[in-house]
Amino acid sequence: MKLSSTLLLDVARKQSAERTPVWLMRQAGRVLPEYRKVRESAGDFKTMVKTPELAAEVTIQPVDILGVDAAIIFSDILVIPEAMGLPYEMEEGRGPVFPQTIRTPQDLQKLRVAPADELRYVTDAIRLTKKELNGRVPLIGFAGAPWTIFSYMVEGTGSKTFSAARKVLYTEPSFAHQVLDMITESTINYLRAQVEAGADIIQIFDSWAGILGPEQYSTFSLPYISRICEAITDVPKIVFAKGAFYALTEMNQMPCDVVGLDWNMNIAESRRQLSGKVLQGNLDPCALYGSFDDVRKATRKMLDAFSGTPHIANLGHGLYPDTEVDKVKCFIDTVKEYSATRSAAN
Ligand code: CP3
Repeated sequence: MKLSSTLLLDVARKQSAERTPVWLMRQAGRVLPEYRKVRESAGDFKTMVKTPELAAEVTIQPVDILGVDAAIIFSDILVIPEAMGLPYEMEEGRGPVFPQTIRTPQDLQKLRVAPADELRYVTDAIRLTKKELNGRVPLIGFAGAPWTIFSYMVEGTGSKTFSAARKVLYTEPSFAHQVLDMITESTINYLRAQVEAGADIIQIFDSWAGILGPEQYSTFSLPYISRICEAITDVPKIVFAKGAFYALTEMNQMPCDVVGLDWNMNIAESRRQLSGKVLQGNLDPCALYGSFDDVRKATRKMLDAFSGTPHIANLGHGLYPDTEVDKVKCFIDTVKEYSATRSAAN
């Protein structure tokens, strides 16, 4: 199927474009009343994720309602540990919880490399979404980075410090590497299946990059992300490593096309260190709590800071659920209008 808007893919491949493309992390989520309605009738999060018709519906909502330049498939990074043998539950108001965790080498027997078949509900959702999008915008596939997935599998739930996960890196490093290796192989199977089903571009989320130091990140995270990027060959790849400001020069060597920046990252400094990459980001999601005028000003300021480098506009992390829909629209419209006039002036 030919896409009618290739803006995001063009910029990801460093080709010229008439304006800056824009999408948001967690756009297929709780800011939209239309999402909450589907969520209520489905009953729970996992039912939505596992029912391709519902997943496709909420994936497309932000394209229709917000006017973003890409859809991101509605799912979660935690489907991988589940497919490896460690199921998760999504608790209302608490987030993800794993009834069983892995902490010692004996726990390896709970795990297997997930075959892509196990996640057929995601690839079915991708096929259906592609059909319903009918080429309007590209579809983003995604997975968690092995380190972030490992953190949840060891910790069993979200944590401020992820100290149980970090402890394992010191006390059982070879066990950590074995698990990271299994997650990596599972993720490669999974992302290849997503691309085969129609994902036009993929993003790897390393949400917990920022809790590691540079040496540990180089040992326990970057090599595994690189392996995944090397194995996925047919589509552009975005790596978003939240908090990894200390690893930007290494990320410039990563076999990926785009690097996502969080809002802590200085744009000028990131441009210097990531001179070979397309950059994505990085407005603080809290900037959307300001007035309309504040949102417009902050968005233009961000666009100016990226001017002259290939850029995909986004927030520095996922949208917060209580953000006003009109402020989200204001951000998107400002990117579209301001970047188009700026391109015209060039
Ligand atoms: O729009 C999109 O970005 C696509 C869908 C998507 C979800 N999760 C849906 C979701 C994506 C890309 C994710 C990735 C994800 N999931 C990450 C990486 C991105 C990041 O934010 O750093 C992480 C760490 C998770 C794990 C996870 N899932 C947590 C910690 C939580 C609870 C806290 C929260 O932010 O809501 C979830 C639940 C979740 N995943 C929801 C959604 C829409 C909320 C569920 C609901 O109540 O409807």
